[in-house]
Amino acid sequence: MSRKNQDKSSTENLTNGTRRNFLKQSSLITALALAPATVVKAAENQWDEKLADVFEKMPVTLEVNGVKHSLQVEPRVTLLDTLREQLNLTGTKKGCDRGQCGACTVHVDGVRINSCLSLTITNQGKKITTIEGLAKGDELHPMQEAFIKHDGFQCGYCTSGQIMSGVALIKEGHANSEPEIREFMSGNICRCGAYPRIVNAIQDVKNGNQS
Ligand code: FES
Ligand code: FES
Repeated sequence: MSRKNQDKSSTENLTNGTRRNFLKQSSLITALALAPATVVKAAENQWDEKLADVFEKMPVTLEVNGVKHSLQVEPRVTLLDTLREQLNLTGTKKGCDRGQCGACTVHVDGVRINSCLSLTITNQGKKITTIEGLAKGDELHPMQEAFIKHDGFQCGYCTSGQIMSGVALIKEGHANSEPEIREFMSGNICRCGAYPRIVNAIQDVKNGNQS
């Protein structure tokens, strides 16, 4: 075969191969689109089971609000989900689930973190404090008292995160002025716009006037 014919033949093969692949893929997509919902659901369930097999549970021990818990968790599970789903500590809220709103703020070994960004297994042996662990029995934490006194919330969804952040903020030494409080509380979003009253509450606790 001449060089020209060879080139023509390989171009045709390539084109035919590409066309064949395209037709195959199109038929597959059409078949899936036309499959009854039950078939699609069964395929999804199978996929979920396979995924669950990949993520085998691992043992982890956490001390939450002074109580030790030995748990079995999948390595992909966040501290937020473990607190809410396994330990029923639903005071810690899920807002964005991606580190942008601060609703899930808890203390780990005394430091505030977004629990939606922390895998449970990385907290092995650590001490976690949630909003449920702030009060001493019937006696509210001064920051909780101050939020009530200053009406530092409206719908309340962000409030547990705001309070946990506010407590940590004072401990960090970052509550010395209104601009500083606003700056260091900027990771905690309040869609109701209760910011001025949140700042007042934090300033009150900082100045020891909360009661
Ligand atoms: Fe964690 Fe929004 S839920 S930062
Ligand atoms: Fe509603 Fe803050 S009180 S989001």
